[in-house]
Amino acid sequence: MTEYRIAVLPGDGIGPEITAVATAVLQQLTAAHGGISLDLRHQDAGAGRWLREGVAFTDEAYDACVRSDAILMGAIGLPEARHPDGREVNGDVIFRLRFDLDLYAGIRPVRSWPGLTSPLSAAPPVDYVVVRENVEGLYASRTGGCNVRDEVATDTIVITATGTRKVSEQAFRLAGKRGGRPRDGRRLVTCVDKANVLSSYAFFRQVFDQVAAEHPDIGADHVYVDAMTAYQVQQPDMFDVVVAENMFGDIISDLAAATVGGLGLAASGDIGDRHGLFQPAHGSAPTIAGKGVANPIATVLSAAMMLDWLADRHADPAAAEVARLIDDAVGDVLADGRVLTPDLGGTAGTAQVGEAIIAAAIRRR
Ligand SMILES: NC(=O)c1ccc[n+]([C@@H]2O[C@H](COP(=O)([O-])OP(=O)(O)OC[C@H]3O[C@@H](n4cnc5c(N)ncnc54)[C@H](O)[C@@H]3O)[C@@H](O)[C@H]2O)c1
Repeated sequence: MTEYRIAVLPGDGIGPEITAVATAVLQQLTAAHGGISLDLRHQDAGAGRWLREGVAFTDEAYDACVRSDAILMGAIGLPEARHPDGREVNGDVIFRLRFDLDLYAGIRPVRSWPGLTSPLSAAPPVDYVVVRENVEGLYASRTGGCNVRDEVATDTIVITATGTRKVSEQAFRLAGKRGGRPRDGRRLVTCVDKANVLSSYAFFRQVFDQVAAEHPDIGADHVYVDAMTAYQVQQPDMFDVVVAENMFGDIISDLAAATVGGLGLAASGDIGDRHGLFQPAHGSAPTIAGKGVANPIATVLSAAMMLDWLADRHADPAAAEVARLIDDAVGDVLADGRVLTPDLGGTAGTAQVGEAIIAAAIRRR
């Protein structure tokens, strides 16, 4: 049996509540399966630690992440925890991990779930993945923008050929493993940019096109980011895999989540060539923290993505089986509709949803 060491960073706000559910699901279902074991090592990092001790991410906690097989995170950040220049301190953790571990691809799946009412319930089915370039783009300037006399502030977009190539290759690899878009099963990677206005985005598109030419078995097309937001609402079944620059990917993946029922369902994985960080796409939701009503499903689905990634990396079918079990169990709970948190129109608490997922998984075995 393979044992994986997982660095767990519950973080701030609702982070500890939703992470407790995800780790309970992982522990109980890996134990029930018997073919995989996880050594979960918790690390205290984030805005809470910064407010208490003046440091959000110690070198010790960072090293524990580097030494782990994968990282599972709840949510990091609190609006009141800010550096003197106004930036929130959560970047000390999230950006350090993304940039220093070169987690260049932000993988954000979005799909409609049977039984769940969403703003687009009458629209065609949704099942696509946003691949967000994670370490370049406009956010590469995160600490390097300039502020002149508190009168002019600028940030510079960074697009490199290597970074664009790597994230585009990741998108085509992913498309090769999926069943195509819901509309007609066509395998397709869509490049989202603003190549009609900025030369940086035209360059992103040019490199994307070079990678596309190396994958003649998979279709490729382009959509401008402004039109993208309309297509996401009106014709979401036209997408299979979408690749975008960092800030555009950040924005369109939140919109994507909203079209299928909200951020509480939005899983994500930040993937590099050697490391993987898995966390819900949402933040720490401070206004509902401590009330036991946060939806843990995005974190649970992120944990399943983590197992899938470990399965691929280590050719471990047991990890893939538990990932599938978690995914199917979440589908059962959503389709049943009786145990849902308030963001999905229910009255259940965070822990109850976790228990329902575990019970559904056990029933499936
Ligand atoms: N990767 C991260 O850890 C991450 C990402 C985004 C924001 N943040 C941080 O989180 C804090 C709050 O940011 P925000 O309010 O802009 O975004 P947010 O995602 O925390 O919340 C946006 C809205 O969605 C709701 N929501 C989010 N997750 C939910 C869940 N699981 N269940 C039910 N409702 C949920 C919130 O209540 C809120 O109404 C900030 O400090 C921000 O910097 C962290």
